[in-house]
Amino acid sequence: MRKVSSQIFSRKNFNSLMNEVFVEKAETLRKFLQKARGQGNPVDLQSCFFNFTFDSIMRIFFGEESNTAVGMPNKYGKAFDAAQNNMRKHAIDSIASYIFFSTFLPWPFGGRCGGLARRIWDIFSPRHRTMKAATWVLDQEAKRLVQKCRDDPKLKERRDLLALFIQANFSTDFVKQMVLHLIIAGRDTTACLLSWMFYELTQNQDTQAKLHSEIMQKLPPDTPLNLKSLSASELPYLNGVIYETLRLWPPVPFDGKMAFEDDVVPGGWKVPAMAKVAYCPYNMGRDAKRYPEPEVFRPERWIPFTAPPQHEFPVFQAGPRICLGMDMALFEAKTAAVELLRHCRFEVVPGQTITHGDKVTMDIKSNGKEEFNVYVKSWEA
Ligand code: HEM
Repeated sequence: MRKVSSQIFSRKNFNSLMNEVFVEKAETLRKFLQKARGQGNPVDLQSCFFNFTFDSIMRIFFGEESNTAVGMPNKYGKAFDAAQNNMRKHAIDSIASYIFFSTFLPWPFGGRCGGLARRIWDIFSPRHRTMKAATWVLDQEAKRLVQKCRDDPKLKERRDLLALFIQANFSTDFVKQMVLHLIIAGRDTTACLLSWMFYELTQNQDTQAKLHSEIMQKLPPDTPLNLKSLSASELPYLNGVIYETLRLWPPVPFDGKMAFEDDVVPGGWKVPAMAKVAYCPYNMGRDAKRYPEPEVFRPERWIPFTAPPQHEFPVFQAGPRICLGMDMALFEAKTAAVELLRHCRFEVVPGQTITHGDKVTMDIKSNGKEEFNVYVKSWEA
């Protein structure tokens, strides 16, 4: 999968397909926000970013047009959220019962996997039923996308990832799994990065103003956004804001691995075969020995920029399985940030208690709900 997918992350594709899609989708989002500004309405910026990343990957990965950023419903995105939320909540609700079934009931009523008791428990759980219904929709939608692509007479000319997979002769089942995998990899992570970045900008208005002035100097409205114009050397402060956000709010804050063979990690600790090892970029990014005053949001600490060693800053993982979409995510986040900030200023809606979510990818919760509300302002006001 990694080998085929890596073809979409070629430089040529960054300069054409991705550039084209990110700019178009960022402009759509900016117009939507300007409309909200005109009406004086608050906006849930986090859901805007989830829509922006979703619409972008639907085109880049699947060649499918989706316009959730302007309120067009999309079955796939909705079902994906329902499946994810209900799966997590059902697992939390069920832990004690599953342990009871597997520890105290004999097979086939209980036993290692919970046996019949677990099946009955799941059938009667409304959350489990909602999750199943949502995964059915996901399955149908993935099947539809794959079939549509297989039937496309212009398959050979298509540049999206799904077309690459189908031409590489993977089975429909494998490609369906891939569709799901790429949606979680490509939508939620970058949307979390953008949400926390704008959260920090609303909390640090001086930083927002400084970033705006860098953007207006180098890329005022109507100047083209591309890989070169958005590079760290052209926009060092923007790059600093992004890395500072990733340090404090890594979209994957905690990750686990398992050693298949006896191993030794770089610090010299032995890891026996089948042992699980977890690492926690969230804590690593807040280590005072490495980052003085770690709680302070200070983009300047990344200037002049040298990319941090992968294993010291494993926000995108490290080594041979490092995130395949790292450059794409940074390019996407920069495109959106520049397009929005050259036209709009953002202020937090007062009265929100902000915490972080507890999903695989760390989003924002405002007063216990997965949202982040802002007012969109203009720079002139
Ligand atoms: C800020 C954004 C992102 C962050 C922080 C991030 C982080 C990560 C992390 C931590 C992993 C390792 C997961 C593990 O092995 O346990 C990973 C893997 C991966 N990511 Fe990302 N990711 C981001 C954006 C993206 C995007 C936009 C894509 C686009 C497709 C993507 C595609 C992938 C893929 C395919 C893998 C699996 C690589 C492999 O196992 O060989 N990621 N990412």
